[in-house]
Amino acid sequence: MLKDKKIIVFVAGGIAVYKTVALVRELIKQGAQVKVAMTENATKFVAPLTFQVLSQNKVFLDTFEEEDSEHVSHIHLADWADYAIISPATANVLAKIANGIADDFVTTTLLAIHCPVFIIPAMNSNMYMNPASKNNRMKISQFGYTLMEPDIGFLAEGYEGKGRYPELFRIMGEFEQFILKHEINLPLKGKKVIVTAGGTKERIDPVRYISNDSSGKMGHALAKVLRDKGAEVLLITTSSLNVAAGIKKVTVSSAHEMFKEVDKYFATADSLIMAAAVSDYSPKYEQNKKIKKDNQLVQLELVKTVDILKTMGSKKKKQLLVGFAAETNDLKENAQKKLIEKNCDLIIANDVSQKDRGFNVDTNEVTLFTLKREPLQLSLNKKEVIAEKIVDKIISMIQEKEDEESDTNRKNNS
Ligand code: CTP
Repeated sequence: MLKDKKIIVFVAGGIAVYKTVALVRELIKQGAQVKVAMTENATKFVAPLTFQVLSQNKVFLDTFEEEDSEHVSHIHLADWADYAIISPATANVLAKIANGIADDFVTTTLLAIHCPVFIIPAMNSNMYMNPASKNNRMKISQFGYTLMEPDIGFLAEGYEGKGRYPELFRIMGEFEQFILKHEINLPLKGKKVIVTAGGTKERIDPVRYISNDSSGKMGHALAKVLRDKGAEVLLITTSSLNVAAGIKKVTVSSAHEMFKEVDKYFATADSLIMAAAVSDYSPKYEQNKKIKKDNQLVQLELVKTVDILKTMGSKKKKQLLVGFAAETNDLKENAQKKLIEKNCDLIIANDVSQKDRGFNVDTNEVTLFTLKREPLQLSLNKKEVIAEKIVDKIISMIQEKEDEESDTNRKNNS
């Protein structure tokens, strides 16, 4: 999501400057282009060279250091940025922004900025709670800037309070949400997509169950890419893997629970992607007490579970229906059979007999089957990369479906 985004990080003078180093590193790692501007006080905590090396860009410090005669550097920098972050935002810098004061490079550039601004306040809790600081924050949010809530916890002063610089994980989650809010041209903006992930667990007794090797990685990777492309994502999963911010997660266990959740939301969704490995059979009776080893032979009666994908295929109206096919043999024939029998628009088939793809590994190689086009093979790659390619295909199919619908409407109306 951050790939090639141009981000200015304004660094003000507080102890959390050292934590901003990790933030800049993470932004770079995610593909953003970063330029850093520091106040003089900030340079007392961390040398500009640290940010220069990490961002691979010169660090801006002095309003009057005009190296390039063709540009006024603070205006040029303000015009360059897609997004701005103030980290840490001290009480002093917030007071200056609230009152339009521009007396150094950071505040002068901030006055010239016209991109969305994301602010990470960090200060002593008494300073944070001071009525003047509260008033400044209120004013700043009225400018349309986004202010994070600092963490509550152990402060540099040696006591607990609200004002701590938030954990990087929370910053990145909220910053990604902030970007999604401001990106208006994302291809899946306004689309509701349900993704299922993980292997279901069918209970035998309170301590035993039937399941499979699916980790949920492919489904979770798909959910993240769909979110990055602007979709409103509902992830129905059996997995405890991390879920990217902004994705609504519903945790389920059995095939029946998964079915109930999918069925609840399917009518209002634009697409369903069944990446879950749903058990085909479930014990007929779940024992409420642990089965003891008293008998030489225990027979387990299994009944077929509901085929979620097929059921949704019979109910589908405008939805784009995507299924997976986990195969060990006759991949093409089996995938094409599933495509038709389950009334899907797309089947993503993988050969689960091989160790480096499919279940419980970080890589995958898949072939995409549709009714209209030749199969498309996506060669072995990380699941995140495969997810991006699958989502590109889904986007083009949704677009095609919408174009067909508007053609039909036009014909019917003429
Ligand atoms: N699926 C489902 N409900 C089930 C079983 C499978 O919705 N009870 C979905 C899976 O999520 C997947 C697709 O159907 O998207 C194909 O699953 P797969 O396990 O490959 O095939 P099955 O339909 O279960 O058939 P078989 O096991 O005989 O290959």
